[in-house]
Amino acid sequence: MPATVVVGTQWGDEGKGKLTDLLAKDMRLVVRYQGGHNAGHTIVVEGESFALQLIPSGVLYSHTVPVIGNGVVVDPAVLLAECDMLEARGVDTSRLVVSGNAHLIMPYHYEIDRATERALGKNALGTTKRGIGPAYADKAARIGLRVQDLLDEKIFREKLEVVVREKNTMLAKVYNRLSLDLEEISDLYLNELAPRISPMIGDTVSIVHEALDAGENVMLEGAQATFLDLDHGTYPFVTSSNPTAGGACVGTGIGPRDISRVVGIAKAYVTRVGSGPFPTELEGELAELLVERGHEYGTNTGRRRRPGWLDTVMLRQAARINSLSEIALTKLDVLSDLEEVKICVAYEVDGERLTRLPYHQSVLHRVKPIYETLPGWTDDLSAATSVADLPDSAQAYLRCIEEHVGVPITYVGVGPGREQFVQFHR
Ligand code: GDP
Ligand code: IMO
Ligand code: MG
Repeated sequence: MPATVVVGTQWGDEGKGKLTDLLAKDMRLVVRYQGGHNAGHTIVVEGESFALQLIPSGVLYSHTVPVIGNGVVVDPAVLLAECDMLEARGVDTSRLVVSGNAHLIMPYHYEIDRATERALGKNALGTTKRGIGPAYADKAARIGLRVQDLLDEKIFREKLEVVVREKNTMLAKVYNRLSLDLEEISDLYLNELAPRISPMIGDTVSIVHEALDAGENVMLEGAQATFLDLDHGTYPFVTSSNPTAGGACVGTGIGPRDISRVVGIAKAYVTRVGSGPFPTELEGELAELLVERGHEYGTNTGRRRRPGWLDTVMLRQAARINSLSEIALTKLDVLSDLEEVKICVAYEVDGERLTRLPYHQSVLHRVKPIYETLPGWTDDLSAATSVADLPDSAQAYLRCIEEHVGVPITYVGVGPGREQFVQFHR
């Protein structure tokens, strides 16, 4: 069976964790393909909430094999803490496999992330300060340490000595920061972390291909989202990997023809955390209402998310870049009780109507959204289980999105719980 990709279509936190968990019911492998513990994916099962950072959101089922693909950047201490947290809550993590080609996040990556943000001052990106960008930068510069290096003390030490020397020079001379201790890092990674990580390391490319060849269902779980993509997002206000569907091939080692389904996750409104342009951003009372009703605070960082109306210009672009086969729209329940709801259908700039994202970033910073306004609904949707339970105006909202994006909505989220969804066009 070809693979299914789950990809964020906005600026993250769309509910990828919930949908991945939902779809994982029928999956054998669930593979994370990029990002690191900058992600926070929430799953709520029978009132119990799990916030995952690195471990794929299929882990809660006993029939799945969770895999961390080569495209992910891994802080092994965070990974082990997450395993311990899950085990303590009765979740078996023993089937977890981590790619030996995945890169390691090292202590100096955190230092450099923080120092770079400080140096950028008012232009700071608002990163999660988890060393993600610096770890991917080292990967591209070919000086990164990989998960498989933990298996060979001599190679690990050799690489580490060169890199720590370089990083310490940079931290001291450019950023005026203290040096990091080589022996401390070496001891932590080789003596404390490696013995526990080693049994998890595997040939994930072969594992994925063997599952596909055996006709098993494979899901590839993206972190972050289309507009945080290093190439297709609102650069430089992006993350340092490729969350878009193409990244799923690179980050797991399969080809495009091995993918048959791409599920784009979209929130019924939009949120963004960190800096960067946001054409439909709301302020004032309505913004507060959405933040409070939607609990729009970072899953792991606790940062307030910036809210705005749904933007179909972005969604049309996401549909193209990811070749979306369907959309799962989450958090429709949060929009209840509004007199009217708005959907951005185009942008206006210099008297011109744009239906596509402008390619010039400076233009995006000054576009004005053009809205279609629809009547709201007052019903509480949280107990809806079928389309018939959705009021006409909520259904009209969904159909209006489908029309403007040209992609069917298959799932509609009506609450955080695993069972709180409605199958729409399916
Ligand atoms: P992810 O990063 O894309 O996995 O999303 P997050 O987990 O960071 O943020 C989504 C938040 O919305 C979480 O708190 C989820 O529990 C919650 N959530 C997901 N789907 C729904 C939904 O349909 N309705 C409501 N009210 N909450 C939802
Ligand atoms: P999930 O998977 C929302 C944002 C940060 C910042 C930018 C760069 O939960 O959707 P980074 O630390 O990656 O270098 O930060 O990207 N960001 C996210 N925003 N959800 C995420 O993940 C994010 N991961 C990174 O806020 O603006
Ligand atoms: Mg999140």
